[in-house]
Amino acid sequence: MSVAACGSGGGSGSSGGGGDSGGGGDSITMGFSQVGAESGWRTANTKSVQDSAKNAGVTLKFSDAQQKQENQIKAIRSYIQQKVDIIAFSPVVESGWDTVLKEAKGANIPVILTDRAVDSQDTSLYKTFLGSDFIEEGKKAGQWLVEEYKDGTDPVNIVELQGTTGSAPANDRKAGFAEVIGADPKFKVVASQTGDFTRAKGKEVMEAFLKSTPDIDVLYAHNDDMGLGAIEAIEGAGKVPGQDIKIITVDAVKDGMQALADGKINYIVECSPLLGPQLMDLAKKVLNGEQVPPRVVTEETTFTQEQAKQVLSTRQY
Ligand code: AHR
Repeated sequence: MSVAACGSGGGSGSSGGGGDSGGGGDSITMGFSQVGAESGWRTANTKSVQDSAKNAGVTLKFSDAQQKQENQIKAIRSYIQQKVDIIAFSPVVESGWDTVLKEAKGANIPVILTDRAVDSQDTSLYKTFLGSDFIEEGKKAGQWLVEEYKDGTDPVNIVELQGTTGSAPANDRKAGFAEVIGADPKFKVVASQTGDFTRAKGKEVMEAFLKSTPDIDVLYAHNDDMGLGAIEAIEGAGKVPGQDIKIITVDAVKDGMQALADGKINYIVECSPLLGPQLMDLAKKVLNGEQVPPRVVTEETTFTQEQAKQVLSTRQY
């Protein structure tokens, strides 16, 4: 786990949480526990949070958990000890957070969930959850597939590269997709395994799929990075990605959009990493004692190959 502080605070303010500095933009200190640096999406998300903290005058204590829940729990406990004003984190997996969240609540430090959800029954343990609707993302992926194969009756063999096991995006993108394609028995998920949201693992698992599973028609990858790794495996096996095997991914980071424009990916469901400005806004409101909605859903779209060509040059991340 690496920890770093950045951003700046100015002046003093009313007490916001467990710290001696307060809300309203006056000298807020936020402890932020990031999942890791597993993907292009994550890199863009980290930059968004760090840049927005600077712009908002928030002192950010940032830690990278390297995709390990134990590191996130350690980081949150350290933020509690340091008496930060507010804690924000993107939980690597959904379960197992109640104890540490109760410790934060006991110390009177508000918590904001960003990007990923927790499965805690006690929703008083956090103030709000800012991020995408991952089930909807999975449904959008499934809807494209249903439309693409609407005229065929032959079986469609799908392999799935799941995100990190136990994470909200892996659980929900799988469920949303399964719900939509489940309405037509010609769609068959013939293999489904985690690629941990990384390019290297995406390549490795796709190589195994190609050896063990004949006649793959479609790859559904829960993020661009795994899809990009899988493209290397598909090309390595002498097949043409986007043609021999149709590919759907999620995120729409620049490398993914480039592959979409190049015809190697067929469809991308957007998941925006630019959560920083809304996060800083919500943090200030919480520390000012203002009401915030319990759930803030990120606005997102989808991209075809033609649409990717049009927006590629202006893509921010
Ligand atoms: O939680 C968001 C997901 O995490 C992104 O889709 C993926 O790329 C990242 O690793």
